[in-house]
Amino acid sequence: MSIEAKASVVRTARQGRVLVVTIDNPPVNALGVAVRQGLQAAVEQAEADAAVQAVLIVGAGKAFIAGADIREFGQPAQPPSLPEVCNRIEACGKLVVAAIHGPALGGGLEVAMAAHYRVALPAAKLGLPEVNLGLLPGAGGTQRAPRLMGVRAAAGLMLSGQHLGAHAAFDAGLVDRVAQGTDPVAAGLQYAEELLAANAPVRRTRDIAIGDKPAALAELDALAAETAKKTRGLFSPGKIVECVRAAVELPFDEGLARERALFVQCLDSPQRQGLIHAFFAERETAKIPEAKAAAPRTFAAIAVIGGGTMGAGITVSALDAGFTVTMVERDQDSIARGQANVEKVYDGLIAKGRMSQDAKAAVMARYTPSISYDDIAHVDLVIEAVFEDLEVKKAVFKELDRVCKPGAVLATNTSYLDIDAIAAATARPQDVIGLHFFSPANIMKLLEIVVPAKVSADVVATAFELAKRMKKIPVRAGVCDGFIGNRILAVYKQVADYMMEDGASPYEIDEAVRAFGYPMGPFQVTDLAGGDIGWATRKRRAATRDPKARYVEVADRICERGWFGQKTGRGFYLYANGARTGMPDPEVLAIVDAERAKKGVTPRKFTPEEIMRRYMAAMVNEGAKVVEEGIALRPLDVDVTFLSGYGFPRHRGGPMKYADMVGLPQVLADIRAFAQEDPLFWKPAPLLEKLVAEGRNFDSLNKAD
Ligand code: 3HC
Ligand code: NAI
Repeated sequence: MSIEAKASVVRTARQGRVLVVTIDNPPVNALGVAVRQGLQAAVEQAEADAAVQAVLIVGAGKAFIAGADIREFGQPAQPPSLPEVCNRIEACGKLVVAAIHGPALGGGLEVAMAAHYRVALPAAKLGLPEVNLGLLPGAGGTQRAPRLMGVRAAAGLMLSGQHLGAHAAFDAGLVDRVAQGTDPVAAGLQYAEELLAANAPVRRTRDIAIGDKPAALAELDALAAETAKKTRGLFSPGKIVECVRAAVELPFDEGLARERALFVQCLDSPQRQGLIHAFFAERETAKIPEAKAAAPRTFAAIAVIGGGTMGAGITVSALDAGFTVTMVERDQDSIARGQANVEKVYDGLIAKGRMSQDAKAAVMARYTPSISYDDIAHVDLVIEAVFEDLEVKKAVFKELDRVCKPGAVLATNTSYLDIDAIAAATARPQDVIGLHFFSPANIMKLLEIVVPAKVSADVVATAFELAKRMKKIPVRAGVCDGFIGNRILAVYKQVADYMMEDGASPYEIDEAVRAFGYPMGPFQVTDLAGGDIGWATRKRRAATRDPKARYVEVADRICERGWFGQKTGRGFYLYANGARTGMPDPEVLAIVDAERAKKGVTPRKFTPEEIMRRYMAAMVNEGAKVVEEGIALRPLDVDVTFLSGYGFPRHRGGPMKYADMVGLPQVLADIRAFAQEDPLFWKPAPLLEKLVAEGRNFDSLNKAD
């Protein structure tokens, strides 16, 4: 890094007796090595200049400082370290003021806490979100935050990763004043001048004593137990509590040393790798070729066709994003049900005290129910969510073609159907796209944007813009049966069925999957979603199924009894008296036994490790096929699909990242070993074989542009 470059990311300018230090490192003023060097040099400059009586630290652009430069983690350390920089700021013999007008997160807040005084403007966001990256605040944050805001509140801030606004930060003791406006230099200079005029002393956070230590330690004991229970399997939360304990028990410098040691442990953990991969991957999925080629169409008025589970959820999502929505249903009864489905969501918020009646009325004023397609001639974008039946959907799209204005985007929420065929039902296939929301659509973050052959680039760009406005995480997918997510799901679900027939109980499989970090196992998910959905799909596909392929009938036997899961009180599990948590069902085990006997299978034992090896090998192998066929743009798109739509444990980064961490040669060796038993099912993906032969990993494909 040249001297000029260093100078440009941290600028200093004297305004009277105050040295204004501006961090200008777009996009978010992350604390990369040049910024750290610049900050340290600025403090030295202030100390050396007799005309300077105070230092003001501000950020240029929208952020104060968003934290350490995440891209540097895992790279060789370059001095000065951030803890050193914070200590240098705190040790400054002249007053140091931080003026915060935007995000002050992680290392950014640590810099601010090392300053002697802090002022926040209304758009400030203060937080220590390192836990979301598998880390802990590693530049004195675990030692300074408890001194400023108290032990319990500081631990809460670090464990939740929550951001505080200016007033909440003031109430918590993190900042000394809230100023108006958007200009941190003006607010900071005014504050610095007032402090100087009042002869305010240099005030170091490290010198603040933590009161009532026995009470604080007792609170930490309780918190440690609670954290272990709530964050099962996660590494850094427990370490955060340990650091806060050090803040109470040890002198400041020893506490800092303890924090450093534990920070390095977190940095070296695979969870940090997984979580940081997830952070960047979620930002990469919006980078698609079409976004470079075309601008989105403008849209404000939306129509949703169908007011069932998905139509209602999509409507809520669109209303929450500020759009007007016309919902079209088949008849009066259905539209009344559709509207009730929407209102139920808002009534739930009202019941929890999270929404007022007036706010609901204001949102519902943008909603229009209808049973006539002629009412949507004006809309800019239509999302169809009617029954999953190609003929029904084609008929709907014919109607849309008839009534919609030229240039309207026509989207389908189909889960599996061929969108090229749906587009072909219209005279405008260039306007037809897939928008695959997940249930509940107003809550789930994932939106698969499915790109059929004839769609135009600006329609794809419009879909990504819609995702952004709805605060969804978009993933671009190609047309195939199940797109990215459901296609891969179908394959690992099959492996779960095979293991069940070969000797593992559904309960053992679910338990192994949960121990891996999923909130639920596959059989619990089936029970939650309703076994009848998969049953219908299996019946639909029966005619085209390869007769040589292995087919497990247990789920069919269960559905034949009318056991569709939670909604019928039993499925793979028993849900006595409407319970949401199921109990193992001996009758289900008897069905499994009978199926094994019928097929002549002698059941064998599976360890949780073997269960996961097979489950993950199937997921990764199909993931590789999906990438190879161009259904997913990159491996990271598969990762994001599973992280945001299928409950894949975030700290493992997604299935493809997981495979990279295990090592692709190991995954391929597993698949080849399993192929000995069932070569038809376990066909190694050619892409996986190629990467192993070339000594490469999936991540190398993420980087190739
Ligand atoms: N380091 C490096 N790059 C970062 C970054 C960081 N800390 N934070 C954000 N970026 C990058 C993003 O990757 C993105 O890059 P791209 O344009 O190439 O995709 C760009 O900055 C803009 O980010 P967003 O798309 O997220 O922009 P938003 O405006 O939506 O959000 C934000 C801004 C709230 C600052 C959000 O980016 C964020 O939450 N960042 C992470 C904050 C964080 O976790 N800080 C703690 C870091 S760890 C730490 O400080 C350790 C210390 O204790 C030692
Ligand atoms: P649903 O059965 O709850 O709702 C479908 C609605 O469409 C019904 O209210 C019905 O009256 C209405 N409808 C049927 N024909 C119509 C027509 N010609 N015009 C207007 N309305 C009509 O079904 P659900 O679950 O909401 O699914 C809808 C679509 O979303 C399907 O394509 C499904 O595959 C897809 N999907 C479903 C998910 C889920 O978890 N339920 C997840 C993601 C996608």
